Amino acid sequence: MTVDIMKQGELISDSDLVNFNTNNSKSGRPALTKAGFVILGVSGACFFGVYAVATPFLLPALRRICLPFVPATANQVTNVFSALRGRSGTLIDIGSGDGRIVIEAAKRGFQASGVELNSWLVWYSQWTAYRQGFTTKATFFRKDLWKTNMSPYRNVVIFGVEQMMEPLERKLDMELPPDGVVVACRFPFPTWQPSVVVGSGVDTVWLYRRSHIHL
Ligand SMILES: C[S@@+](CC[C@H](N)C(=O)[O-])C[C@H]1O[C@@H](n2cnc3c(N)ncnc32)[C@H](O)[C@@H]1O
Repeated sequence: MTVDIMKQGELISDSDLVNFNTNNSKSGRPALTKAGFVILGVSGACFFGVYAVATPFLLPALRRICLPFVPATANQVTNVFSALRGRSGTLIDIGSGDGRIVIEAAKRGFQASGVELNSWLVWYSQWTAYRQGFTTKATFFRKDLWKTNMSPYRNVVIFGVEQMMEPLERKLDMELPPDGVVVACRFPFPTWQPSVVVGSGVDTVWLYRRSHIHL
């Protein structure tokens, strides 16, 4: 017996009905074609990729002290090393971003380290150091600067934000070694007395000697 179904004014034969059913899922909804699977997979992968890359850059905005990734300009880097003229030994850049200060320090003979929360920036810095042949002189750690002990470092560099300078001053007051210096870029410490000031405006850097920070 032939079963015919009336649909939109046309007669559909039972053989058409068999074809229709095999192209549809059991739930009654249309089944995904191969192209549909590919499009779904590619858009899912794109969404996950953007999410994974963007999240570490957006997370600082949610922290109590927001310290976003703003790389030092060429002038700021030059001013940091003018202030550090004559210094040597260990150096740490706290919040090392893409590693430019640490790698420049390694080139100038420092045993340089960077601590940075953003994993992408840590990997990028390690890769840059490797490409430029400074893997032993420039090392990078994914670490919170507030949980990093500063006492092994004779030279500390911070390119910070205004609201972090007071708590950081207190932390460094407890941890900086007796012959240590700190170079602050862009924002000075609130109560310490700088020994050296280089540059002007947003490029200003202040160097503080442990032995001279209190009047
Ligand atoms: C203003 S950027 C400075 C980058 C680099 N020092 C430079 O001069 O080019 C500050 C960096 O600190 C990182 N950061 C923010 N909070 C941090 C934390 N608690 N511990 C370590 N790094 C942090 C950010 O991801 C950002 O890369």
